[in-house]
Amino acid sequence: MVFTDRTFVMIKPDGVQRGLVGDIVARFEHRGLKIAAMKMLLVSEDLAKKHYEEHAAKPFFPNLVSFIRSGPVVAMVVEGKDVVPMVRSMVGATNPKNSNPGTIRGDFAVDMGRNVIHASDSPESAKREISLYFNTSEIATYKRIDEQWLY
Ligand code: PPS
Repeated sequence: MVFTDRTFVMIKPDGVQRGLVGDIVARFEHRGLKIAAMKMLLVSEDLAKKHYEEHAAKPFFPNLVSFIRSGPVVAMVVEGKDVVPMVRSMVGATNPKNSNPGTIRGDFAVDMGRNVIHASDSPESAKREISLYFNTSEIATYKRIDEQWLY
């Protein structure tokens, strides 16, 4: 059986600048999740504000928007069974101070404003965020060669 639950993942400018893209993508691939789309981009002010609109009234919002625009990011669509909670658990707690070792933030980050990666917190957010960053034509459909050993 092929699972096409989707989540949106973004390696933030700190993760790109620190050369962590390969390590992070490898974690998802090795787990058995499928990279269905991936691109590097500079996030426009408009896109950054739309992405984080639910936090618009928070005091950290201007910092968050400027940080996300401070360099290129790598945006991804990741697929797999129960992928939204699975990726969130791989990413770790929002504040790296509380992220467990073995999680991406727990292994690669120390500070809240430099927490390396974003992942959708619900299937609804995933759908919205994927549509902000990707056209349907940019999302690939293919079979992983090891699918029969994963599901
Ligand atoms: S809240 O208030 O609990 O809803 O916010 P939270 O889920 O903790 O964080 C929402 C996103 O804002 C980022 N964040 C920050 N960025 C920069 N500086 C500061 N101080 C800061 N505080 C929170 C946090 O990493 C979340 O972004 P994502 O991309 O989802 O990780």
